[in-house]
Formats: sequence, C-alpha cells, structure tokens
Amino acid sequence: MSQDKSSVSLRPLTPQTGAEVEGIDLSQNLTTKQLDEVQRAFLDRHVLVFRDQQISRDQHKSFGRHFGALHVHPAKKTLGLGGDPEIFDVKANEKTKFANGAMWHADLTCEEIPPLGSMLLMKQMPDVGGDTLFANMHLAFEVLSEPMKEMLRRLTAVHDGLQDLRNYGIRPSADIDYPRSEHPVVVNHPQTGRELLFVNPAFTSHIKDMSKRESDGLLRLLFDHVAMDPRLHCRVRWAPDTLVFWDNRSCQHFAVGDYHPEVRAAERVSIQDKARPSANLSP
Ligand code: SIN
Repeated sequence: MSQDKSSVSLRPLTPQTGAEVEGIDLSQNLTTKQLDEVQRAFLDRHVLVFRDQQISRDQHKSFGRHFGALHVHPAKKTLGLGGDPEIFDVKANEKTKFANGAMWHADLTCEEIPPLGSMLLMKQMPDVGGDTLFANMHLAFEVLSEPMKEMLRRLTAVHDGLQDLRNYGIRPSADIDYPRSEHPVVVNHPQTGRELLFVNPAFTSHIKDMSKRESDGLLRLLFDHVAMDPRLHCRVRWAPDTLVFWDNRSCQHFAVGDYHPEVRAAERVSIQDKARPSANLSP
C-alpha cells in the first residue's frame, strides 16, 4: 500500500551534518516523492536517522535497492563468512575483543568501488553506550589551509583490506585475494561534485610516491584532524529499530566500543557505488 503524499521532515543533528527523518514508515511502499526527498536529504545531510522502523530483512534490503544494487562484503566472498550475502551482521558480546567499526573509517575503501552508503538497522543495544560518531569529510577538507589542500589534491593513497582485518586479529592465509586499491586523497562526490577528504585509519596504509616517514606523518596529521575537530562530528544514539543511512563518501564513522561485556547487534545493508572514487583535477 502506498503511503500518503505528505513530505518527510528533517531535524538536523548539527548545523552541517546528520538529520533525524520524520514522517516515513519503511515497512510501507515509498512514493517517488518520498524517495526523492530521502535522496536529497542524503546528499545534503550525509547521515539520516529513521526511528522506530519495524522492518523485515527483505524490507531492509528493498529500501537499500532503491539507491542501487546491494553490495556483498568481501569477507563473504573470500573468507567464507556465512549468512545472507547482502546483510552484514555487526555484533559484539562478552567475547568480543575489538568491536566492529570501533575506529574512524569509511566502509571498505579497500575496494576498487567502495559502497556508496550503508543502512544499519539496530536490533539489540546495551543499556547505555554503543553510540556511533560520524565525521563530515567535506568539512574536514574545507577547513584545511589552501596550501595543504593544494598538496593533497595531487596525492594518491593505497587502501589495504588486510590492514583492516589485522585490527580484528584476522590474518588470512597468503593465497587469499583480499581487496587493495588506490584512490585519490581528495575526491569529488559523484553526485554533488563537492570535494572531500578520502583517507581513513582503518584502510589507508600509505600515500604513494612519498617516503614512509612523509606518508606516516601526513596520514597521522589527517587522521588526527578528523578525530579531534568536534565541528566535523555528529553523534547518533541508537535504540532497537533505529535505521541509519549514511553516505560512505561524505562521512566516516566510529562505533564507540564502550559497552563491553554487553551485547550490541545490528544488520547492515550496503549499496554498491557505480564508479571508482575520482577527482576532477584542474590542469
Ligand atoms: C560499521 O562500521 O559499519 C558499524 C557501525 C556501527 O556499528 O555503529
């Protein structure tokens, strides 16, 4: 059944980043108008929070498919991680040493074409804690000095999936082919054209054509810049049935692992982007 034609409304989380979305029930068929409004809000706010969404796994995937083909996590393709290929379980309990996503990152930037966004649906939360922070990567770039921006626009970085797996204590055997890719350090958002900083500490191993000392020093500066400037951040406090849809180009996220030994469980659907991250370099 189609929902009525009333508009979705947005309550911003910060002046530049994130919004709570009201007036939409994801268990119902969405109208073209509603989908257009969600798409506009996604490009404008980068992080959309939908509360009280009691939806099935199929409804979750259908919502994702409105924005593109669904992405399959490389661990499902190459490491034999089971379950539905299009749903990635994000779960931590008393046995977890390092909770999924508990450091600044964008999802799977090791891939040639990383996901354009992810939709995480919360299933179980600790009594307190387990929030997720988001950092606006357009702003992260824009507040840098002009000479720094000029240098960064000319650089390419390597993003290595094995580096991320090591954070979780996973060391696949040498014959496993896990993604590793090169991307510009500054890319233009494929829909808005806006520049954004595209390096993150989970996946970015080094900057090409620099010495190790230069690359480590520059990446440390950029990672600290993203982590330490609260103007870039918004914070989502979850409840079961909250769904958050984030733009994986425009923002990074950090799932705060402060609730051990309690359980936190969620299901993630990610959406495949159409092209490699790229930069419109002026000559
Ligand atoms: C993720 O990194 O995709 C998970 C984020 C979260 O659990 O809040």
